[in-house]
Amino acid sequence: MLFPEYRPRRLRRTENIRTLVRETHLSVNDLIYPLFICEGKKIKQEIKSMPEVYRFSIDNALEDIKEAVDLGIKAILLFGIPDKKDEVGSSAYTKNGIIQKAVKAIKDRFPELVVITDVCLCEYTSHGHCGIIKNGEVDNDSTLEQLAKIAVSHAKAGADIVAPSDMMDGRVGRIREALDDAGFSNVAIMSYSVKYCSAFYGPFREAAESAPKFGDRRSYQMDPANSREALREAYLDIEEGADILMVKPAMPYLDIIKMLRTEFNYPLAAYQVSGEYAMIKAAAKMGWLDEDRILWESLISIKRAGADLIITYFAKKVAKMLLKG
Ligand code: PBG
Repeated sequence: MLFPEYRPRRLRRTENIRTLVRETHLSVNDLIYPLFICEGKKIKQEIKSMPEVYRFSIDNALEDIKEAVDLGIKAILLFGIPDKKDEVGSSAYTKNGIIQKAVKAIKDRFPELVVITDVCLCEYTSHGHCGIIKNGEVDNDSTLEQLAKIAVSHAKAGADIVAPSDMMDGRVGRIREALDDAGFSNVAIMSYSVKYCSAFYGPFREAAESAPKFGDRRSYQMDPANSREALREAYLDIEEGADILMVKPAMPYLDIIKMLRTEFNYPLAAYQVSGEYAMIKAAAKMGWLDEDRILWESLISIKRAGADLIITYFAKKVAKMLLKG
């Protein structure tokens, strides 16, 4: 049927008609709220390039998480900022490490909340790389052993899901094996399956103090020019035992989200990263864009592309917007 018989504007005439035919919906159940946790007490330190995002000590994190839980948020993702770093990132898996303490405290207070932990070395290594350095290069297979130790230590502390973000080959399989051997077959893996080597991570590296001291991450994170490779990465992760796949960043990679949605029958998460957050905040601050509307549009586009879950620093704000309707 063509014009004048078919008139698409008929279904755009009133808000209720538009609501009736809306194809994509955003819910508080889609949101995962990321937090940066540091040592100390009563710390709430704003990240310069991420207004209204903070580094929290555990006590203050609990208060912030309480707000998130009261808003209906069901899951959080934790990043640790340790006091001590070394060559091999050993503070990432000590019993009294920052994440291990945080997970325990959070689970004690909010047993129902889904606690996801980022599993990586870059916040814990003195050189800032996501792996062990051998002969000036990030060594894949020795890094796997470290990642397995980190994942098991998070599971021991009470994490529900571990999320490896290092991009070493074979890490999902090695972590799955280590979790199972340690009796944590119920702990799930949300894999950063398709993680690009992106300049959009800039503000995060300030927040987590995790910028590499030499070189860059191109030898392990994916080339932004590649999409077929994304399928190979996701396929490997599924074969190795991933429970949830993730694409990161989100908005510049909507085609990849769509591809994974079409290709794989697995829960799919997308990470709206620090640079995506900073861009929206900066433009809004200048008065150039409407923050609320840009935020809603960016998240709905990520869902429309096929993501089930969205990791976003805006999680609390979105939850508030959704409550208001
Ligand atoms: C750690 C990690 C990074 C992010 C999540 N986990 C940084 C990086 O790879 O350098 C980025 C998240 C963000 O930018 O919001 N490997």
